[in-house]
Amino acid sequence: KTASIIGAPMSWGQPRAGTDQGSQILRACGLEDNLLALEWRIDDKGDLEFDEPTRNDPAIDPTKVQGLAKNCFTVGKGLKKIHDRVYEAAKEKEFALILGGDHSLSAGSVSAILRARPDTGIIWVDAHGDLNTPETSPSGNMHGMPLGLMLGLIDPTLLPGFEWFKDVPKLNPEQIVFVGLRDLDAGERKIIRDHKITAFSMHHVDRFGIGNVMDMAIESLRKPDGSMRPLHLSYDIDAVDPEVAPSTGTVVRGGLNFREAHYVAEAVGNTGMLGSMDLVEVNPKLAPGPESEMTAALGMALISSAMGARII
Ligand code: ARG
Ligand code: MN
Ligand code: MN
Ligand code: MN
Repeated sequence: KTASIIGAPMSWGQPRAGTDQGSQILRACGLEDNLLALEWRIDDKGDLEFDEPTRNDPAIDPTKVQGLAKNCFTVGKGLKKIHDRVYEAAKEKEFALILGGDHSLSAGSVSAILRARPDTGIIWVDAHGDLNTPETSPSGNMHGMPLGLMLGLIDPTLLPGFEWFKDVPKLNPEQIVFVGLRDLDAGERKIIRDHKITAFSMHHVDRFGIGNVMDMAIESLRKPDGSMRPLHLSYDIDAVDPEVAPSTGTVVRGGLNFREAHYVAEAVGNTGMLGSMDLVEVNPKLAPGPESEMTAALGMALISSAMGARII
């Protein structure tokens, strides 16, 4: 088994400097050695490089779309690079591990995974829904929009930088399940309801326990014929409680505790169907020092858990 490591330290989907250091700090925690010890062959593709936004970048035409998608030209071009690199790995049947970077990158990675493995089910572990469109977003930050894009809720031809996105496969709402939600915007709540997306919030974790929640989440991704889909785990570190994972840009109290966070990754790994994963939103510049080390070490451990590390 070979794992392709793809560094995607793109941060223009959100406003805070430091999210572009995520891949670097995850690597510095000993990621490769850990994966080698789990008997993976590693094909490290290095870190992609991204352009910075400029003042002359094209923006959304306000006569066509009422809303904001900050840095969309830069984000769109960056996502294309990520998409191409992830597709290369996925079509070679390698495990694709994508290190962020902010969560907008998942529109690039997930679209590439779907091109190579169309039936893939997406387990989205996050405090947030990331289902916004420029119209529903309260912030205009594109890290809140990757699933809105993947579901086709935004016409990509109206988003400068995203013209290429009209040719990528769309995600069917049945192919998504959320775990860990606790901060949704009004528009996102409506999208979850209207599209009948399966969603387990922290309320469900409280009510049923993480074991039952993961059983139900994985079960919800069966195909109509009863077989299991290949799985992609998109893990936003802000799903974890800020006491355990403080170094991230959009913290929300009341998240997964240390063991719950690991259990999520272990349960997905145990299906034997996991073929790709994103780990995003680690920002070592926020809460620098021991707290950022703790956050990065956790991110690294969650990757290891998903990819086979077990207590016994
Ligand atoms: N829902 C908020 C927004 O659209 C926050 C999104 C946070 N997303 C993230 N990937 N951390 O701005
Ligand atoms: Mn997210
Ligand atoms: Mn989040
Ligand atoms: Mn479902």
